[in-house]
Amino acid sequence: MSQVTIIVIRKARPEGRTEMNKIAVTTALRNDDKSVQRALKISSDLNLPFILRNGRSLDEIRREGCYQGLLVTGNNTLVFSYQGGEFFYHPGLSKLRIKEILNGKKDKMIEAMDLKKGDSVLDCTLGLGSDALVAAFFSVHGSVIGIESSSVLSYIVRKGMEFYQDDKDFHLINSMRRIKVVNADHYSYLQKLPNNSVDIVYFDPMFRIPGKKSPSMQAFKPLSNQDPLSCETIKEAIRVAKKRVVIKESANSSEFTRLGVNKISGSKYSPIAYGILEKGGYSD
Ligand SMILES: C[S@@+](CC[C@H](N)C(=O)[O-])C[C@H]1O[C@@H](n2cnc3c(N)ncnc32)[C@H](O)[C@@H]1O
Repeated sequence: MSQVTIIVIRKARPEGRTEMNKIAVTTALRNDDKSVQRALKISSDLNLPFILRNGRSLDEIRREGCYQGLLVTGNNTLVFSYQGGEFFYHPGLSKLRIKEILNGKKDKMIEAMDLKKGDSVLDCTLGLGSDALVAAFFSVHGSVIGIESSSVLSYIVRKGMEFYQDDKDFHLINSMRRIKVVNADHYSYLQKLPNNSVDIVYFDPMFRIPGKKSPSMQAFKPLSNQDPLSCETIKEAIRVAKKRVVIKESANSSEFTRLGVNKISGSKYSPIAYGILEKGGYSD
């Protein structure tokens, strides 16, 4: 009898439902050897094609190669350019939020997390990293890890957090440099972590109210994973969290019920609410 060997090929988990996947790397119009070398390095890091600029406009390069987006390196700049917009790293609203905390104001996310100095935070939906930045600032010396499933977005944010400069705001810079950016799917990442190994596990999914995001979020939307949170992910998050899991959603979102959240924090007038799953208080 002949033997049959069955080989199971496990597909790598996709980056999620994004609007763009045909992306290339090029340089700014004015470029030198250094920026070409930098672009080549990015193209190899991200496994994306490198296109010589050759004086062409970004639109021309996009059209010729049918690219949906281009990562453009300049002198200390890294910009993601697509038809209809561009995106680069900046601290966004976190700068203002940190200033307000320093002035004694309360931050809704920090309250929902019940974050204490030294706490560790796993931000499972890093995006631009604004929430992670505020958490890093408030936790002072606590560790903050940000998980982002889009390889291009996590690359831009990692480089931004490493190199962004602001001579007048050392709180911002110190907090930024402490964040570890990881390109991974949060479910797979959580699965590898031991029980009770992180104080707070945090989610701010893209899924809710499409189109009603802030301008900075609209800018990176084409790169972002728009899948809803899964109940399996929340189960893993509860296992990994030492204190609590916090989910940011639009107020009155049916996502809270679907994910088993019954404690909600947020002001009556805010369009945003935070669902809280206390360790030990969750049943599926
Ligand atoms: C609404 S944004 C988060 C914004 C972020 N809180 C901030 O302050 O900038 C959601 C992010 O989560 C990412 N994301 C969605 N599903 C993910 C998954 N399964 N694993 C890792 N990241 C994911 C998206 O790509 C997107 O960048």
